[in-house]
Amino acid sequence: MVKNSDFMTTIVSLCKRRGFIFQSSEIYGGLNSCWDYGPLGVELKRNVKEAWWKSMVTNRQDIVGIDAAILMHPRVWEASGHLTGFTDPLVDCKSCKERFRADHLDNLKSCPKCGGELTEVRKFNLMFKTFMGAVEDRSSVVFMRPETAQGIFVNFLNVQQASRLKLPFGIAQIGKSFRNEITPGNFTYRTREFEQMEMEFFCYPGTDAQWYDYWRNNRLSWYIKLGIKKENLRLRDHTQEELAHYAKACCDVEYNFPFGWSELEGIANRTDFDLKRHSEFSGKSLAYFDEEKKQHIFPYVIEPAAGADRATLAFIVEAYDVDKDDPQRVIMRFHPFLAPIKCAVLPLVKKEGMPEKAEKIYKDMLNNSIKAAFDVNSAIGRRYARQDEAGTPFCITVDGQTIQDDTVTVRERDSRNQIRISSEKAVEYISQKMKESALCLSQ
Ligand code: GAP
Repeated sequence: MVKNSDFMTTIVSLCKRRGFIFQSSEIYGGLNSCWDYGPLGVELKRNVKEAWWKSMVTNRQDIVGIDAAILMHPRVWEASGHLTGFTDPLVDCKSCKERFRADHLDNLKSCPKCGGELTEVRKFNLMFKTFMGAVEDRSSVVFMRPETAQGIFVNFLNVQQASRLKLPFGIAQIGKSFRNEITPGNFTYRTREFEQMEMEFFCYPGTDAQWYDYWRNNRLSWYIKLGIKKENLRLRDHTQEELAHYAKACCDVEYNFPFGWSELEGIANRTDFDLKRHSEFSGKSLAYFDEEKKQHIFPYVIEPAAGADRATLAFIVEAYDVDKDDPQRVIMRFHPFLAPIKCAVLPLVKKEGMPEKAEKIYKDMLNNSIKAAFDVNSAIGRRYARQDEAGTPFCITVDGQTIQDDTVTVRERDSRNQIRISSEKAVEYISQKMKESALCLSQ
């Protein structure tokens, strides 16, 4: 199967048909670059975020989490450099009024759509503005955060002191960010409202290069462990010109999307830039007191910054497969940890007590926090196909033999192997499979 731009159309329509992702406000004609996650999509994205949180926070002793407010003091964005520096070069067409990023025009002097005259290049700040309180004047302007990172930096000492942390340690956060992108697109890849999964790892200056290497490898292998093939991932180092104003080194984890190799996550050595700037702008020092050396220091920061929506899209693209004997039949080969539904319970026929037995197993799954499905309609083959398309790794079937000896079949999605187990062991069996699927998230 060729995963090209036509393939992207297939993905978008599958996402709508099966309830992974819908266009936002669709009945009003949609809102450009905004997307809503449906019942399968929300489970998948929650699992992506949970996989990140487990491997970055829950399963580690050196990283803690926070959940900071989206709206922050406007001075934060002065200190971080976003107010002046977070801009894209913009030109407008004087005839058709279309807007373009000047750096995407390859030195074109006229509008690529209608040939009209273009305006001078101007800097366009990507931060969304709003007003806090009832008065809409300059003093009440606040910004929707364009990255979650700053909520971590301004809380650095609060977290360090409250949790009695010693260097090196990290602070992680998952949350929404907003950027008024000039050219959003490629489905959920570049949107104006998106979710980030960021971690700031604070270390002694001089050890930063070593930690930068560590996080590059750690983050690349996270995607591989969750099912993305090595050949579809690469690390791309930024050139000196590409480096952000705060970065000493930076690389991107890139995925081979149907629209080409594109950034999934950035890993940057942000030095002591942010802690020093916030100390300067707030007048409150964010220096760390080193108990052993009895001195204050500004730690260096390594930042793996991932996007929950981009990662989710990459896992969808990667999971897509078709049956080699029946190309109409789609199989979403999600890693079991990521799969939206873990197990479907299916009575073979609607009689002889099979639906009642299957429903009991289904409810036992739910009572044990296993996201399960129950499907009684149409032939069993069609029901397996529906679950394959949703990416469900296991199907449990209640059949004639169940009524005689209380065993059920467990069908595995990828191998299609079927085994028989006691119906009483069904919940335990799936729970064990789920535990095994989470092992890859340990260090
Ligand atoms: N704190 C550093 C930072 O925000 P970034 O490379 O601008 O770095 C990190 O963003 C990640 O956030 C990106 O790798 C991407 O996954 C996600 N991201 C950024 N802008 C996005 C957008 N407009 N739409 C969807 N995801 C985005």
